[in-house]
Amino acid sequence: MGHRLGRVLITQEEIAGRVRELGQDLARDYQGKDPLLVAVLKGAVVFLADLMRATEIPLACDFISVSSYGASSRSSGVVKITADLSQTIEGRHVLVVEDIIDTGRTVTYLKRNLLTRHPQSLRICTLLDKVSRREVEAELDYVGFSIPNEFVVGYGLDYLGLYRNLPQIMVLDTGEGGEVL
Ligand code: IMP
Ligand code: MG
Repeated sequence: MGHRLGRVLITQEEIAGRVRELGQDLARDYQGKDPLLVAVLKGAVVFLADLMRATEIPLACDFISVSSYGASSRSSGVVKITADLSQTIEGRHVLVVEDIIDTGRTVTYLKRNLLTRHPQSLRICTLLDKVSRREVEAELDYVGFSIPNEFVVGYGLDYLGLYRNLPQIMVLDTGEGGEVL
């Protein structure tokens, strides 16, 4: 039973259009604030690269890496920072950039952790929101797309480390049909 790439859920053009809008929202909301965009590795790097170029104000970026313990693909909620930011965020306007919010556990942990470092503000921007899977309430400030409960890959999102390079968001399924990879 191999995994197969299923249908395209969000096209390259749809992503580009939405990222442009989000960039305009950020430029408006963070004008004069020199925000620090914190991308969560590795999934958010593709989104960050496009989003920061769509945001026409001075901004900085940094990276943080987290891993969740427990059952493989399921988020256990026990989260560990495996590579930390390269700088202090005290007094900064911080925007966490995520690829997808699923149960909400990772982003909730991250938010709690970063708040102890006293940023001036802390907001969340996620490309995808799998609303129906939420287990922990998480306030999201910017959302690219709300998606149904399907496992997706591409545009930074992976399955076992693969498919991050797909330019569109695709459903990964185990059923018949689809392209065998
Ligand atoms: P949460 O703590 O359950 O919100 O976990 C979110 C993390 O689970 C994301 O950052 C992804 O790494 C992973 N994840 C959840 N759903 C998907 C998916 O559909 N495709 C790829 N990764 C996913
Ligand atoms: Mg992730």
